[in-house]
Amino acid sequence: MLTLLKLLKDGRFHSGEALGAALGISRSAVWKQLQHLEAELNLPIHKVRGKGYQLASPLTFLSSEKIAANAAALPWPVHISDSIDSTNAEALRLIEAGCAAPFLVLSEQQTAGRGRRGRKWVSPFAQNVYYSLVLRIEGGLRQLEGLSLVVGLAVMNALHESGVQGAALKWPNDILVGHKKIAGILLELVGDPADICHVVLGIGINVNMQKANEVDRQWTSVQLETGSAMDRNQLVAGLGLQLQSYLDRHKRSGFVALQEEWEKNHLWHGREVSLIAGVNHINGVVLGVDHQGALRLSVDGVEKIYSGGELSLRLRDDS
Ligand code: BTN
Repeated sequence: MLTLLKLLKDGRFHSGEALGAALGISRSAVWKQLQHLEAELNLPIHKVRGKGYQLASPLTFLSSEKIAANAAALPWPVHISDSIDSTNAEALRLIEAGCAAPFLVLSEQQTAGRGRRGRKWVSPFAQNVYYSLVLRIEGGLRQLEGLSLVVGLAVMNALHESGVQGAALKWPNDILVGHKKIAGILLELVGDPADICHVVLGIGINVNMQKANEVDRQWTSVQLETGSAMDRNQLVAGLGLQLQSYLDRHKRSGFVALQEEWEKNHLWHGREVSLIAGVNHINGVVLGVDHQGALRLSVDGVEKIYSGGELSLRLRDDS
């Protein structure tokens, strides 16, 4: 089926006869595969009598050569799949199998993309970036402090470079344009965080997605913001360079060196928010983040500090 898709990716018309000849199958077998493509990968295909078949919009596939052409200096090998349950899950399996870090896992599609707090990450075929970078951390807990916030800075800057000037941060590690989410980050860790461990930096960026009925919150994508489709290889390369630079600064100087830059880009700095911790809601005003990336909230006039992967912020309706 993917071979057929690769023949169609240019967005031009191809006759059923030509597609069948290229694949060595009958015209009716081509027709069946096209129906599967539409249903399983959710890719609209135009069918015009006398002309043949055409993808509603052209596709560009992920390519390690194209990524390297845009970011030759990156020190990690890239594993690219057509379809996988989750790039984070695959990264964890590769760690378990002894694959040496750093390495990067990408996929055209995720069938069980994971989000924070047990949520699903909607991951349609060849539209977005599903990116899991694995690092080996030897410096103990200090090397992990604020790490997910630093990844947020790298993603935000890669989006700025891609023309999404309005991208900004929401604690702890969402990237929004206004109220709409454009990217999310999920860190997963194996090993001993106080000694030697591996951390998977899982990043999902909405790139060319224009419709997604299954997403249950306000969202946007690079294409919706800039008005044009983007080659995901270019974004993957740009993100890699940003991550390399931010991770290096974080390793050398810790989160404290990036704290001010993070606060400057926090969309909700000074705003009235509700911090959601399970069934509890804590109302307060955002003061900033501390040296470890924990949230500083003023609650009834008293400064309190919050951290933890299960926490989430909402803007208070009246702020
Ligand atoms: C969030 O809920 O905001 C975090 C979303 C993280 C999604 C990315 S996509 C690549 C990687 N693989 C996954 O299964 N999840 C992360």
